[in-house]
Amino acid sequence: MSTVLVTGGTGYIASHAVVTLIEQGFTPVLFDNLSNSKSLVVDRIEAITGVRPRFVEGDLSNIGLLESVFAEFKIDSVIHFAGLKAVGESVREAQRYYANNVAGTLALTQVMAAADCYSLVFSSSATVYGDPETVPITEDMPLSATNPYGRSKLMVEQILSDLAVSNENWRIALLRYFNPVGAHESGLIGEDPNGIPNNLLPYIAQVAVGKLECLSVFGGDYQTVDGTGVRDYIHVVDLVEAHVKALSALAPEHGCQAYNLGTGQGYSVLEVIKAFEQASGVEIPYKIVERRAGDIRASYASPENTASKLGWRARYDLAAMMRDHWCWQQRNPQGYEA
Ligand code: NAD
Ligand code: UD1
Repeated sequence: MSTVLVTGGTGYIASHAVVTLIEQGFTPVLFDNLSNSKSLVVDRIEAITGVRPRFVEGDLSNIGLLESVFAEFKIDSVIHFAGLKAVGESVREAQRYYANNVAGTLALTQVMAAADCYSLVFSSSATVYGDPETVPITEDMPLSATNPYGRSKLMVEQILSDLAVSNENWRIALLRYFNPVGAHESGLIGEDPNGIPNNLLPYIAQVAVGKLECLSVFGGDYQTVDGTGVRDYIHVVDLVEAHVKALSALAPEHGCQAYNLGTGQGYSVLEVIKAFEQASGVEIPYKIVERRAGDIRASYASPENTASKLGWRARYDLAAMMRDHWCWQQRNPQGYEA
């Protein structure tokens, strides 16, 4: 049985990954500083799987603690989710973002190498494509970033790629997520953002339960089907399954490779609102306002490279994403706090 260190293990995406890892016979060890998640997540994972995973509370900057985790648990590979992810906050708190996301990853890889563990799956983002000239986006398209969050992802990708050149033992998968949404079908784990959500789905879901009044749709004059921005929404359960496929693909000679994780299908904001209304039976009041600074017109993946190299394709459609996101929000209107 393979032991996988899951950094950021109690977070939104990682908690789903831990469920899938347990179901597929892996032994996950969770490591998280709880800066953006709750330890109650561990109880919920146990309720879903019947297995209580080991959880270590700690920060990536604590090298001594990380070393002791590698020594105690004999880690075979790492899925590195831990990171700060709010774009606006990254502009105001650039120092904290680079320290956490870039220096944190460096510390992790240093401890991994010392422990002779060279298999790493990294949570990157489609944000590294900047404002793409064409869609669908393929992995070989030019990379750029417009804010510290995006640059931290780009820097880490470059660092990891250089590590793989410097030492051929490294086997690294850079997973570029498009827009993860939805939740585990049980409704026991899901996304629980702090404060007012920045992202579309958590915002819509909080309007639906009456926590927020009205959705602002950022821009109605893009060159798209209906003038609103187009994104590639992907069910979080599909997304985490790709991580397990990536782990299996980390064979010798893999080096450092990037994979898009999207469905290949773009939907506009208005299409998403409609799909959510159909899934929930709740009307979502909205108004079209100015474009959000830094937003792009359209972003969706070409999933072909990932399909051929990892043997993975997304299975859930938009209706299933909305159904499961709504189920989580309805069962946990106050998130994990309640
Ligand atoms: P999340 O905030 O729910 O999870 C991240 C977890 O990492 C949190 O539990 C947080 O407490 C922990 N963490 C942060 N810094 C840490 C540190 N220094 N040491 C230990 N733990 C730390 O976010 P998520 O949505 O699950 O995202 C997971 C990863 O995927 C992040 O790296 C994020 O940048 C990336 N990503 C997310 C999205 C998205 O839309 N959710 C899109 C692209 C990429
Ligand atoms: C945002 C981040 C991106 C990050 C991604 C996943 C910005 C500029 N980009 O991408 O770096 O990788 O989240 O975490 O923040 N929308 C509304 N009203 C809202 C919220 C969103 O109309 O209240 C629209 C947006 O304009 C966009 C779509 O919904 O067209 C999706 O937005 P969002 O969920 O924030 O994701 P991204 O903008 O793709």
